[in-house]
Amino acid sequence: MTRSLSKISGEDNLDTNYDFLIKFLLLGDSGVGKTCFLHRYTDKEFKQKFIATVGVDFRLKKLVYEFPEEDDEDSKKKIHLQLWDTAGQERYRSLTKAFFRDGMGFLLLFDLASENSFRSVRQWLDEIKEQAYSDEPDIVLVGNKNDLDSREVTTAEAKKLADELKIAYVETSAATGENVEYAVNHLLDLVMKRMRDYVSHMEQEEGSASVSQQQPSQRLSPEAKEKSSCPC
Ligand code: GTP
Ligand code: MG
Repeated sequence: MTRSLSKISGEDNLDTNYDFLIKFLLLGDSGVGKTCFLHRYTDKEFKQKFIATVGVDFRLKKLVYEFPEEDDEDSKKKIHLQLWDTAGQERYRSLTKAFFRDGMGFLLLFDLASENSFRSVRQWLDEIKEQAYSDEPDIVLVGNKNDLDSREVTTAEAKKLADELKIAYVETSAATGENVEYAVNHLLDLVMKRMRDYVSHMEQEEGSASVSQQQPSQRLSPEAKEKSSCPC
């Protein structure tokens, strides 16, 4: 089942203008399916052959995003979504870490058929938190390869960990495409809500700053101004 949260639509013919440039990072142990997940999301294809990623790679997706609770034309935002695919192999770790700081959202993948990759989740999370822009970055934990019968991690175990870490959890299959788009859309919702809250917070701060920067007489009510300008 592929679910969709908010109204997000792909557009191939968007011009080069965009309202937001969003950067997501895909992280997780080597072989969990990051590159396949990304191919599935951008090209709707699946490649069986495993070719480990060297360093980092990225793909761009152009989207029109609409906040779920808003329906007017102004609420539609053109998004350029950069999806950074990182190498899971340890030897590239110092290189890939340098990219963490630019990530606005993180898809942290493990393989549902590999308990080892699930055990690595905490370590990945520590590394994200160490490098990321915020103490509580937006992260979606993704249990990939849910098409396989050879599961080593149950849904209950994964959900328990996600709840403990206070992050969302989604089970996907890059092979069938199940929930791949949903996982990305869910992260996009989290990041867009954070951006909207940030912008309105900044607007409020600017509003109160411009009031406090005024001279005391500028802040007086018309009635009080009249009084203050009275020469008597
Ligand atoms: P690194 O680049 O080394 O970090 O690995 P990766 O996480 O990018 O793994 P990759 O996407 O290359 O996939 C590794 C292997 O898992 C490949 O053989 C894929 O075909 C297979 N694979 C990926 N996703 C799925 C899935 O959802 N289901 C199944 N059955 N196999 C998958
Ligand atoms: Mg890869």
